Amino acid sequence: MILNSISLRNYRNHKSVDLFFEKGLNFIVGDNAQGKTNIVEAIHFLSLGRSFRTNEDFNLINDQSDTAYVIANITFGDLKKKISVSLSPSGKKVLYNNKVVKKLSELNDIINVIIFEPPTTMLFKTSPKTRRDFLDINLSKIDENYLKSLFSYEKILKERNNLLKNEDVNLDQLEIITDMLINAAEKIVVSRTNYIYEINKVFPKVVSTINKTKENVSINYFPFVKADEDYKINAKTAFSKALESDLKKKVTSIGPHREDFKISLNNKDVAKYGSQGENRLLALSLTLCPYFLIKEKDKKPIIVLDDVMSELDDENKERLISFLTNFEQVFITSTSLQSKGVNTYEIKNNKILRRIS
Ligand SMILES: Nc1ncnc2c1ncn2[C@@H]1O[C@H](COP(=O)(O)OP(=O)(O)O)[C@@H](O)[C@H]1O
Ligand SMILES: [Mg+2]
Repeated sequence: MILNSISLRNYRNHKSVDLFFEKGLNFIVGDNAQGKTNIVEAIHFLSLGRSFRTNEDFNLINDQSDTAYVIANITFGDLKKKISVSLSPSGKKVLYNNKVVKKLSELNDIINVIIFEPPTTMLFKTSPKTRRDFLDINLSKIDENYLKSLFSYEKILKERNNLLKNEDVNLDQLEIITDMLINAAEKIVVSRTNYIYEINKVFPKVVSTINKTKENVSINYFPFVKADEDYKINAKTAFSKALESDLKKKVTSIGPHREDFKISLNNKDVAKYGSQGENRLLALSLTLCPYFLIKEKDKKPIIVLDDVMSELDDENKERLISFLTNFEQVFITSTSLQSKGVNTYEIKNNKILRRIS
């Protein structure tokens, strides 16, 4: 998929801009606080219907206005798609080809944007939730059933937690809900296991392309119970073992909502042993992996790299850019970046100029 253009009206510091993009690389350059991240935030917003920087949509509306608009034109093979978003005090409205999008998850079929931003460097060191989100978002983008399983798991989990909050927990009822939870969890564990297996096939290749040294890297997923033929029995045993503690703490302590993965670099946990540079390299490589797991060219996600270039030395920067030229469409923001023939927008003093550098 290709984002051909985006128009922003009163979005953050951009009162009125119309930007046109190309296949392949697109650069957005400018000094700090010019609004580079704001542009890629708007691009990424289209993919999830929410910002990666804030949970409050009103932050996205220009301080001096009460309504913001983001209008995007996308091509998807021969299909032309238009997404229009309006944000106002009365809420958020998303239109796809002028029809109302009722659930934001409908955007999964419309556009996919993968973002790497400076905090992603800490992917392996932050909370497990961030790593689960990585799996959940990427899996939801390619598998509608995954999202459904996740929703149904979360619904049952809430019911179980509510039940645990009762003064006298009805144990028969708890057992029924636990069985339902085990059923719902299986689908998630199976999908996550398969996805991690696929990631492990491409992850080392991406790492060795971005960084020329050959490292032994892998992603290791820790399901609460393995998704094999004994899953049901093992899951029941695991929940029985956790029962006492669940009753005491009044919350469900095991299941996909508590799972995690780790990255090993030369057989060591990169979160604990890796340098900042290694963490950044592996986090960037992992973030790009989902791109390779989508085979259909038209469905290839749009890649956004926000402000990561300044951290790299010249050699690594060149290698990364040359790698990224193979992608369908990539947006890179930076304070200084130049490459021959690349569609570049430069922001300076609230003016945005386009040039092919
Ligand atoms: N709702 C808003 N209204 C007006 N300006 C905003 C709003 N939200 C953020 N900004 C401004 O946007 C600027 C930061 O933009 P950002 O995209 O993060 O810059 P860059 O990535 O170029 O460093 C800041 O000056 C900030 O005050
Ligand atoms: Mg920025």
